[in-house]
Amino acid sequence: MTRMTTHKIGQMKTKSKKIVMLTAYDAPTASILSECGVDMILVGDSVGNALLGYESTIPVTLDDVIHHCAAVSRARPDSLIIGDMPFMSYKVSEEQALENCALMLQEGGAEAVKIEGAGRVVDIVQAVVDAGIPVMGHIGLTPQSIFQMGGYRVQGRTAEKTELLVEQAKQLEAAGAFSMVIELVPSETAKMITEAVSIPTIGIGAGPYCDGQVLVLWDMLGLFEDFKPKFVKKYACIRDVIKNAVSEYAEDVRKGTFPEKEHSFEMSEEETGRLYGRSKPSR
Ligand code: KIV
Repeated sequence: MTRMTTHKIGQMKTKSKKIVMLTAYDAPTASILSECGVDMILVGDSVGNALLGYESTIPVTLDDVIHHCAAVSRARPDSLIIGDMPFMSYKVSEEQALENCALMLQEGGAEAVKIEGAGRVVDIVQAVVDAGIPVMGHIGLTPQSIFQMGGYRVQGRTAEKTELLVEQAKQLEAAGAFSMVIELVPSETAKMITEAVSIPTIGIGAGPYCDGQVLVLWDMLGLFEDFKPKFVKKYACIRDVIKNAVSEYAEDVRKGTFPEKEHSFEMSEEETGRLYGRSKPSR
């Protein structure tokens, strides 16, 4: 795959080619995703739940995302790298948004940013795009507003709420967003939004009609035992793979069957002889 660009992502919708996006937070997984031809890598604030042990994305800081984004960008993936702007890192003022989005590109190595929300966020999206920074929008369930939304609940379940989401999507398109995530809405709602805008929609828990799909990598790889949302398909059970390998290692160490000769370094016979022939260390 040659390097992905926001321009090519836009063309994929025109050509009815489905867009593949996954999250990554480190260099080795970023390079695996790139080798697999993943179109976009999102360095999501989901790093908070997935890797940092937080219960939500609220505690994740700009420095956290930049740190992980820089690791992803050092892998030099062909996939487009999107840095997720964390809680309150872009809502205080246009100036704050511009400065922090710039840092995501300059220090994190991102090629675009993702910004949650609509309403007054639309003006911020416009300012960031005007500054030359590509923006991916994010509507439907926006986890940074979880306390206001009353939990991780499906959005846009009524005709009225669907119309509101379609309106928000059109506003984000008019503000210059190059694509948008639609999270946790009924399939019909996502279909209406997708048909109403000319920029690609990337769904998560939004059914099959979006222009592309995104999942949190560690959810689809099966790292977690207790987290089983309806919208995640588990393609592997990496937790069992890790547990089996670690248990085998622990058993080998306890029995003394690891390390074996093939994992150990040897001295030459001459040096070994000298070592054992010595009664005291020579000076
Ligand atoms: O942070 C994240 O990973 C996201 C995706 C779930 C879209 O925002």
